Amino acid sequence: MTTQTAENAPAPGREPRIIAFCCQYCAYSAADMAGSMRLQYPPEVEIVLIPCTGRFDVILALRALEKGADGVYVAGCLEGNCHFLDGNIRARKRVNYLKKELESVGIDPGRLEMYNLSASQGPRFAEIAAEFYGRVRDLGPLHKNP
Ligand code: FES
Repeated sequence: MTTQTAENAPAPGREPRIIAFCCQYCAYSAADMAGSMRLQYPPEVEIVLIPCTGRFDVILALRALEKGADGVYVAGCLEGNCHFLDGNIRARKRVNYLKKELESVGIDPGRLEMYNLSASQGPRFAEIAAEFYGRVRDLGPLHKNP
């Protein structure tokens, strides 16, 4: 866990940018439900709809980080409930692989995460978004001059 210091504090007026790759069946539906329930979560979390987390590729995360995101997460169906059988299992392997690669180049692996949730977990979606946002905010900006 990283603690916030003067060095890693977000630049004044700059909140972290988060990209959330959400599978259309569960995570995106949960996000929809969070919206319908008027649950609050940080507006800096930008949702990108993907058909299944099995379509998540490390290049997508790297490109998001390169283009200004401070953190990326992947949210898919619960294990055993992927509509394409094992897409979420493959996604988790890719996320774990990329975490190690990020660490090897000096980027905190906490800037990347994988979550599983069901379509009925709107409150959990909002909780994940807030949790991850808080974590990345504590890590500070990835790009010093965005
Ligand atoms: Fe949701 Fe595969 S369809 S993770």
